[in-house]
Amino acid sequence: MLFTAGNLPRDMSRLLEAVGAHPLRDGRIVCWSIPLDVSADVLEAGERWLDDSERERAGRYHFEHHRRRFVARRAARRRILGSLLQVPPEAVPFREVGSGKPEVDQPSEEPLHFSASHSEEHAVVAVSAQAPLGVDIEVYRMVEGSLWEVRHLFADTERSALERLSERERARVFFDCWTRKEACVKADGAGLQIDLDTYEVPVGPLGAGVSVELSGRTQGQRSVRLFPLTLGDEMSAALAVVGPGDFSIEVHPWDWSEAFRH
Ligand SMILES: CC(C)(COP(=O)(O)OP(=O)(O)OC[C@H]1O[C@@H](n2cnc3c(N)ncnc32)[C@H](O)[C@@H]1OP(=O)(O)O)[C@@H](O)C(=O)NCCC(=O)NCCS
Repeated sequence: MLFTAGNLPRDMSRLLEAVGAHPLRDGRIVCWSIPLDVSADVLEAGERWLDDSERERAGRYHFEHHRRRFVARRAARRRILGSLLQVPPEAVPFREVGSGKPEVDQPSEEPLHFSASHSEEHAVVAVSAQAPLGVDIEVYRMVEGSLWEVRHLFADTERSALERLSERERARVFFDCWTRKEACVKADGAGLQIDLDTYEVPVGPLGAGVSVELSGRTQGQRSVRLFPLTLGDEMSAALAVVGPGDFSIEVHPWDWSEAFRH
């Protein structure tokens, strides 16, 4: 059964169960849009799902709001993947591949691919049973000072297009371009081992399934396909998928009050 706006289960815990009971076949990619400004109660409950290494990393954050955002996004990630694997959130098995890409530690005949990103008080987790994927989000902010200096990381054509824009127009285009580039390297798993200026993404409006050829230090030439994601007016978001195939992309809002219901 595929979900459309008309037959979506009304509450989130039922939706999580439904997604888990109906594996992500037929090219479905499900994305959760997750607010990270959670209450102390939610934080405490979510933290119980984390493992020792996650708690240790949480303890290293200097600022409390950074710690809160980390615990909240990892708790949501465990809740989503646990529902799909039908195991408790604390029992989701992870491994790292490439240059640190986290993966669900599952037999290869039953893959469950995911990618996660956060920016300020927002996070997104995208899941697919069919293809490795990468997601990236960035909340808009003024592109000036040291942030504008990072334009040397873009490919020549991308940088020239950005330099032609006024400062006011730049923020949206800069972060659209940036999230597209990051989504590509996150899908591939090589992370920043691929030089960002060695491949080009579209700078203007993005159609669905635009092919991007990654070079640099990836395993030979690799192609990923980019899809636009709409998560609200204040942020850029992009999704990249490794390999061919048609995908339908669903975005669901995360509701913390439902996350702890069984
Ligand atoms: C780690 C990286 C993959 C993305 O980092 P980011 O955009 O800063 O942060 P995001 O929240 O979007 O992504 C982090 C998540 O990516 C995942 N991730 C980490 N390494 C990854 C890799 N090699 N491949 C794919 N995903 C990876 C993890 O799920 C991580 O979540 P965690 O923080 O809870 O562990 C990497 O590309 C990076 O460090 N980028 C730097 C970005 C930068 O310089 N931005 C400045 C200008 S806007």
